[in-house]
Amino acid sequence: MLQQTLVLVKPDGVQRGLIGEIIKRFEQRGLKIIGLKLVKVEEDTAKKHYTEDISQRRGEKVRENLLKFISLGPVVAIAIEGVDAIENVRKLVGDTESKNALPGTIRGDFSHVSFNYAKEKGTVVKNVVHASSSLEEAKRELGIWFSLDEIHDYKRVEEEHIF
Ligand code: CDP
Ligand code: MG
Repeated sequence: MLQQTLVLVKPDGVQRGLIGEIIKRFEQRGLKIIGLKLVKVEEDTAKKHYTEDISQRRGEKVRENLLKFISLGPVVAIAIEGVDAIENVRKLVGDTESKNALPGTIRGDFSHVSFNYAKEKGTVVKNVVHASSSLEEAKRELGIWFSLDEIHDYKRVEEEHIF
């Protein structure tokens, strides 16, 4: 199924100069970039993105630390389209806990810290990227970061060979 999903290069990824490296991985897999921008994260955007759902799943403290972390500097918002894009993108991104993320994934190649270590330091696992994890989440999150006229429809030349 053709899907659209949201990726964010988090402030750590931007500040480490990994924007190009990360975008490259989605492009080379044949996934289509349909929206792209560098964004200053306002407090209300951060709260819309990391909702109360995070507190329920991961605890109130994790949400609090995430809100601080995501606002440390600009993020790159990327809208991506492809067949089963949500699952495909999550696979390229790797496990949430950097320590468990497999080499070859973005998180596995550029981070290694555990939940426990981050917690003791009073912060979050800085795992370089965010990616929507379900169809509902993707729809909701794309709506937060992109307006309709910022999502583009075009053909990639190799579509004939990939789709
Ligand atoms: O980002 P992902 O969808 O893989 O995981 P999540 O469960 O939605 O959590 C959002 C983010 O919270 C993660 O990417 C981590 O940066 C952070 N987190 C953390 O630092 N410590 C935890 N115990 C759980 C999540
Ligand atoms: Mg998530």
